[in-house]
Amino acid sequence: MGLSNKELPKLGFLYMDYVLRFFDHSNFKGWPNKIETVTYHWKNDKDRFIKEVKAKKIDVLIGNVPATAYETFREIARELPHVRFIPSLDTQFSNKSKENVTRFAWKYGLPIPKTYIYYNHKNADKFLKKCEYPKIIKKSYGPSNYGGYFVHKVDSYKEARELFDEKRYHPEYFQDFVPMEADIRVMLIGHKPVCAFWRRAPEGEWLTNTSQGGSMDYNDVPKSVLDLAVKVSKAAKAEYWACDVAYGKDGKVRILECATAFAAFPYIRDWIGEYLMWLLSDGRFRKPNMPMFNWEELGKISPDLLRTMRHITFGKFNVSYDGAYFGNKKKMYGKKEVYIHELDAKYKVFPVKRRYVEEWPSEKWNYQDKLALKPLRSLKKKSDIEVPTPTKDESAESVKNEIKITKEELGDFLTAIDGIGKKKVKKLVEHFGSVDDVIGVIHQNPTILEEVQGFSAKLIKKVEKAWKKLLK
Ligand SMILES: Nc1ncnc2c1ncn2[C@@H]1O[C@H](COP(=O)(O)OP(=O)(O)O)[C@@H](O)[C@H]1O
Ligand SMILES: [Mg+2]
Repeated sequence: MGLSNKELPKLGFLYMDYVLRFFDHSNFKGWPNKIETVTYHWKNDKDRFIKEVKAKKIDVLIGNVPATAYETFREIARELPHVRFIPSLDTQFSNKSKENVTRFAWKYGLPIPKTYIYYNHKNADKFLKKCEYPKIIKKSYGPSNYGGYFVHKVDSYKEARELFDEKRYHPEYFQDFVPMEADIRVMLIGHKPVCAFWRRAPEGEWLTNTSQGGSMDYNDVPKSVLDLAVKVSKAAKAEYWACDVAYGKDGKVRILECATAFAAFPYIRDWIGEYLMWLLSDGRFRKPNMPMFNWEELGKISPDLLRTMRHITFGKFNVSYDGAYFGNKKKMYGKKEVYIHELDAKYKVFPVKRRYVEEWPSEKWNYQDKLALKPLRSLKKKSDIEVPTPTKDESAESVKNEIKITKEELGDFLTAIDGIGKKKVKKLVEHFGSVDDVIGVIHQNPTILEEVQGFSAKLIKKVEKAWKKLLK
């Protein structure tokens, strides 16, 4: 088991000018081959960037894409179908904007505060006149929109109107105000929670922002919060993930934010590196052991010290080794007391597989550019300036249903090709994860089929031809 040096995929770090780097070589300690770096220089750098990735023969490109480059990178990813992006651009959909977080949560039925997104400001105004208050208004998109600087509480229509008139946010994005105890940040690797802490608002305040005088602690993060975070990470197919969960005074949990870009101690980034090395080496490298509730223990260490600690490892629980701390320790969890190591069996580290379907194609989901405000000079009357003219109303959101191909249909299509039988169809679905993924590969870049035993270049040509014929 495990790939030899020659078989390992070629890794590359995706860097951006002016953007802090989440990973570097030190997070991938022990990786035997050279790790390339490719830096995006912004402004018209797309083609050069693609060429560099190709020239360096990179198989896996690792790193976060900032919101402002997100759409460009969706295009770049399309032109590099052989490259696995970690995290995938679909996983990073939520990084782009609060609107995207909301749409992601809507799709998967994940709990969030009731949210309203208006591209049509007139309709928004009608709604704001009749809705209940307080409401929370947020800027959906924009560089450095973290830390509550663009989050406002309004108590009346008048306040809402004044705020939007002043800030001119577009789209107009707002939520019901949720009274909460605190919010909780959970970080996950391979869908397993690896760190979690409470952030509480200062006395009498509603914003749970530690940079503005709030407090944080690592103790007894509730089961409901961890379970929700796992569900969200799975829905996002995230190799690594952070989720801010609001813990309501009503006891309910709701997602406030989620993303692959977040602030994390270096030892967490080391764990992500180790996890990815395990994931990409077919098990040659050890899966990191990150015991549940390790954060309650590490949280006792001063943050300044924790910031300097690297490559933290824990021994695994072993029945015959009775000195193991995490083996003996019990904890109230949900409604009963459990051994912490039992929770490790429950919260597994999953291998996140590459997907070949585009879940959030920009043609459909990039409302922001589709419904952008028209440039001011194109407006005739001065009084129009405040009134945006969306090219399309948000009510027209539900784009035509995409074609859905069933397993049977895929089987029929493939087995009609000389040299493909039922066994090979089964192999394909197993290898790529689902019928949709197989279709994605056939549609976008059939040469990837070569990964599966029995698919020669010649056979792939036949598949390609048959697919084109079918689409006619
Ligand atoms: N719907 C809401 N009801 C009550 N408080 C909220 C709501 N949304 C956000 N907050 C508070 O505002 C803070 C910042 O909001 P958030 O959506 O996380 O934006 P930011 O990108 O600025 O961090 C949250 O941590 C929370 O304390
Ligand atoms: Mg936040």
